[in-house]
Amino acid sequence: MNTAFNGRLAILGMGYIGLPTAVVLATRGVEVIGVDINPRIVEAVSRGEVPFVEPDLAIAVSGAVAMGRLKATSETPEADAYIIAVPTPFNGDHTADLSYVQAAAEQIAPRLRQGNIVVLESTSPPGTTARIAEWIGALRPDLKMPHDGEPNADVFIAHCPERVLPGRIMIEMITNDRVVGGLTRRCAERAASIYRVFAQGEILLTDAASAEMAKLVENAYRDVNIAFANELSMISEALHIDVWEVIKLANRHPRVNILTPGPGVGGHCIPVDPWFIISAAPHISPLIRAARNVNDSIPHHIADQVAAKAQRFRSPTIACLGLTYKANVDDIRESPAIEVVQLIAKALPEVDILVCDPFVDTVPKTLADLANVKLEGVHQAVDRADIVVLLVEHEPFKAIRHTRLGGKVAYDTRGVWR
Ligand SMILES: NC(=O)c1ccc[n+]([C@@H]2O[C@H](COP(=O)([O-])OP(=O)(O)OC[C@H]3O[C@@H](n4cnc5c(N)ncnc54)[C@H](O)[C@@H]3O)[C@@H](O)[C@H]2O)c1
Repeated sequence: MNTAFNGRLAILGMGYIGLPTAVVLATRGVEVIGVDINPRIVEAVSRGEVPFVEPDLAIAVSGAVAMGRLKATSETPEADAYIIAVPTPFNGDHTADLSYVQAAAEQIAPRLRQGNIVVLESTSPPGTTARIAEWIGALRPDLKMPHDGEPNADVFIAHCPERVLPGRIMIEMITNDRVVGGLTRRCAERAASIYRVFAQGEILLTDAASAEMAKLVENAYRDVNIAFANELSMISEALHIDVWEVIKLANRHPRVNILTPGPGVGGHCIPVDPWFIISAAPHISPLIRAARNVNDSIPHHIADQVAAKAQRFRSPTIACLGLTYKANVDDIRESPAIEVVQLIAKALPEVDILVCDPFVDTVPKTLADLANVKLEGVHQAVDRADIVVLLVEHEPFKAIRHTRLGGKVAYDTRGVWR
């Protein structure tokens, strides 16, 4: 059955994933209701506005709202299908915090009717989709749930992980291949009908746990590769070798592809998802754990290097360029750049730290208590600084001329000023 979904669809979570998904479905004719517990987000989407920066999303949201195809609300409505795109952070012990997913499942439960589809898009540990069936089943004993491979279930529950790259979400959401893992084969087939509405990539059907694990493995793979690059960076620094040159040369081998070093790993996914594998199999995942530890140690290493350079000056001013977790987006979640600034500011409380980021217009909460940290325009910051630390390769930073950096100590963690 290769038909595309054609009904009413509710998406729980109007964030970086839920809102673009809502828009690509709405602009292709699906009636979409976006649900969020944050009233500020509901109001913004209802006005046709986007509460964060993502290229091409704003125009698509205002169009979908104007057409009457996308509405936003804080109440979970009745629908034919539900997509859950709520956060899945980790707890203090690095186990997954599934409380948002459980809350979303429990919001859907009273509305659910026979034949409905529920898709979990949030990145989740293996077994979470099956737990959704259990949570809903506990509230709706009248409905036959598809766990334990029940072929004649009343509702269809599946996992479809999201692998878009922030900054390219509106392109990749359409073009990427999609993995759809069902609690049963029928669940996968029914869930796939939603993605057939807009996906140009291939839709790969599997079981729910394999889909959950595949997403985690993708990000653990990248984390391990980045940790390798970061470890090479520290080794090369100690040996006075240019790591960028080494990686460029090594990558000319036809089967080598080392990623680029940086100030650590940030964002919502790569620093979080590998822990879901580690906590599922703690005694047999030493490599994935070591990679996490290497990447988490990098902000400390960079802050130590900057503090050592600061010893050369009597009363230095330090400019830190970039606060987001990656280039050309406004997302500061789990940003290693912010951690570097925090560590430098605490290590050197007498030193002025000027931070600048073209995508961030207020001092982030985590830096607000640090009296020696001030937000500044990029040129003013660079001109006033003795030490310039490049933390994020935003386009405007790449354009800074070498003459502007003349006579200053430049510490480039991204290799763009080489
Ligand atoms: N951002 C990415 O690039 C990316 C990529 C792939 C996968 N993911 C995964 O997708 C999921 C969502 O991530 P995101 O970046 O969109 O998060 P986000 O924080 O941007 O958005 C989540 C939204 O869910 C809302 N929410 C929380 N509980 C809710 C509930 N019970 N009902 C309705 N709304 C609720 C929040 O208010 C928030 O607006 C996470 O599991 C994440 O790991 C994210």
